[in-house]
Amino acid sequence: MEKLTIFFMLYLIAIGGAMDTPKDPQSVQNWFATILPNSVEKVTKLHFFFHDIATGKNATAFNVAQINSSLQPPYFGLVRVADDALRVASTPESKIIGRAQGIYATASLEETAFLMTFNLVFTDGEYNGSTLSLHGYNPSAHKFREMAIVGGSGVFRLARGIATARTVWFNLTTLYFVMEYHVVVLHY
Ligand SMILES: *[C@@H]1O[C@H](CO)[C@@H](O)[C@H](O)[C@H]1NC(C)=O
Ligand SMILES: *[C@@H]1O[C@H](CO)[C@@H](O)[C@H](O)[C@H]1NC(C)=O
Ligand SMILES: *[C@@H]1O[C@H](CO)[C@@H](O)[C@H](O)[C@H]1NC(C)=O
Ligand SMILES: *[C@@H]1O[C@H](CO)[C@@H](O)[C@H](O)[C@H]1NC(C)=O
Repeated sequence: MEKLTIFFMLYLIAIGGAMDTPKDPQSVQNWFATILPNSVEKVTKLHFFFHDIATGKNATAFNVAQINSSLQPPYFGLVRVADDALRVASTPESKIIGRAQGIYATASLEETAFLMTFNLVFTDGEYNGSTLSLHGYNPSAHKFREMAIVGGSGVFRLARGIATARTVWFNLTTLYFVMEYHVVVLHY
């Protein structure tokens, strides 16, 4: 590598982490045509805690629809839109590394099970500005739930992968739920 290139790369690292991936159509086509064919698929593992708060002044998830005014188990027909914090730990004050922005809806007549459709929008470190698209089946009373990563952007272009979730703690008074997520993705 030429000295100038090395200097430029060091400069980019020095000015604070991730370079924003160019998103204009020409850059994306260039990436597809020249970078992708010379790339090997990478495996990235992520670990974070998904904090969902559905009441109170710190709420980040809001009911937008429900089937009727008196929901009873399995709570079929509730729809919430959320902009939930993704944190490094299960504690409320732990560092935020991204947001889960999307919709969850109870969609099973048999048990409490959510249809999850979320953008995981990372805001820290090397993944800052990159996203993963999460879509899946989340029967919340099960110990482990497995959901699909169906795509991504930025660092995670063409991602596919698997998210596993388990509930760490919840408070039914404050409707504060914390789930631990392990995500493994293939991307270029
Ligand atoms: C809201 O969050 C702040 C900061 O984390 C915390 O001190 C406060 O207790 C929370 N309020 C409620 C109602 O949970
Ligand atoms: C509300 O929906 C639940 C779940 O389907 C049902 O069990 C209940 O009877 C409904 N209540 C009313 C008032 O329609
Ligand atoms: C993430 O990227 C945004 C936009 O480029 C920038 O303003 C912000 O400071 C970055 N955050 C971190 C923690 O690097
Ligand atoms: C739930 O939160 C409320 C309000 O902060 C608190 O009084 C209660 O002890 C909590 N319950 C549990 C089981 O932690």
